[in-house]
Amino acid sequence: MIKQYQVRNITVSPGLVLSPMSGVTTRPFRRLIKEFNPGAVGLVVSEFVSVEGMTRGSRRTLEMMKFSADERPYCVQIFGYDVDRMRDAALMVQDIGADMVDINCGCPAPKVVKRGGGCELMRQPEHLQKIVRGVKSAISIPLTLKMRSGWDESSRNAIDLAKMVVSEGVEAITVHGRTRSQLYRGEADWSLVEQVADAVSVPVLGSGDVVDHVSAAARLRGKVAGLFIGRASMWNPLVFSEIMAGSPSALSGNEKLMLQILFRYIELLKEDFPESSCGGKLKQLASQMCRGAAWRKTLLTLNSICEQVRLLELVQSGGFRNSTPAAEELESSPSTSDMTCESFA
Ligand SMILES: Cc1cc2nc3c(=O)[nH]c(=O)nc-3n(C[C@H](O)[C@H](O)[C@H](O)COP(=O)(O)O)c2cc1C
Repeated sequence: MIKQYQVRNITVSPGLVLSPMSGVTTRPFRRLIKEFNPGAVGLVVSEFVSVEGMTRGSRRTLEMMKFSADERPYCVQIFGYDVDRMRDAALMVQDIGADMVDINCGCPAPKVVKRGGGCELMRQPEHLQKIVRGVKSAISIPLTLKMRSGWDESSRNAIDLAKMVVSEGVEAITVHGRTRSQLYRGEADWSLVEQVADAVSVPVLGSGDVVDHVSAAARLRGKVAGLFIGRASMWNPLVFSEIMAGSPSALSGNEKLMLQILFRYIELLKEDFPESSCGGKLKQLASQMCRGAAWRKTLLTLNSICEQVRLLELVQSGGFRNSTPAAEELESSPSTSDMTCESFA
């Protein structure tokens, strides 16, 4: 049984959250996941958005916050270092109508931590306190925070940091149970997630290695209020429904369903991205989701979304013969859906 949790007046039900993933959890991907897991995704979070870009008016950065009404409750995650910019950016998140703001304290990427953001904030508790104070003074929507277990094995300070930020008004905390040094290696330490949940009075969510209904059940223990699910949503976009049902996914080996997901993703991508970016995004999902499919390798050789659509149509019609169709062949095969190249114009 999956719990629900409350962040002030917002009920996250069920307590299953699409974890923020830079370059992945764009609006089309979040909508795809919500659509294919009806009633099974309690909250979606944007990819992390730079407060530098936001407060300097970068159009591309601002577009990253865009959301649809059917995504609610919707949280925007921000990252950065400068207190004033963090505060102003959080206010911008509130102004676009998002339901919550989340501060990123977990990103391990050198280009982020070198500038003081992401997991580097776990090494600077006093500065983080100033950021939380500044943001809290500016916004009225709830503030949440996502962190790792610590910087490295010798500084696993998630419990102390959680206590501090909660005393400053943070209303929910997510802990990815790996240190910055671990990056994505090893296993996430869920006993630490439980210890943080025992130590503070707000909902604590766990992140790391939830891949199916079995791993979800094993990790949703004690006072842990819910689960953040990241990479598994690309391997199996139905993972949320699987966890709710408590039984294996309907997607496994189901080519028809895979194609349905890919065609819908193309439609959603078209609404937000230029044609030149859609092919890469489709490959990103297909490379993870379509393992084992005879046509996956061919799909990954095609860069243009038009060629990809033709290939998928060929697969759908039973015409794919496990030999790599040359690009010219795909060009000449008539498109049967309305997903022609022209529709991207
Ligand atoms: C490609 C990728 C991008 C990510 N981007 C973010 C991000 O923008 N913000 C964040 O808090 N975590 C980010 N993460 C971490 C995930 O949200 C999650 O905490 C981590 O992958 C562990 O959970 P999982 O095993 O369910 O994937 C990212 C992870 C991946 C794989």
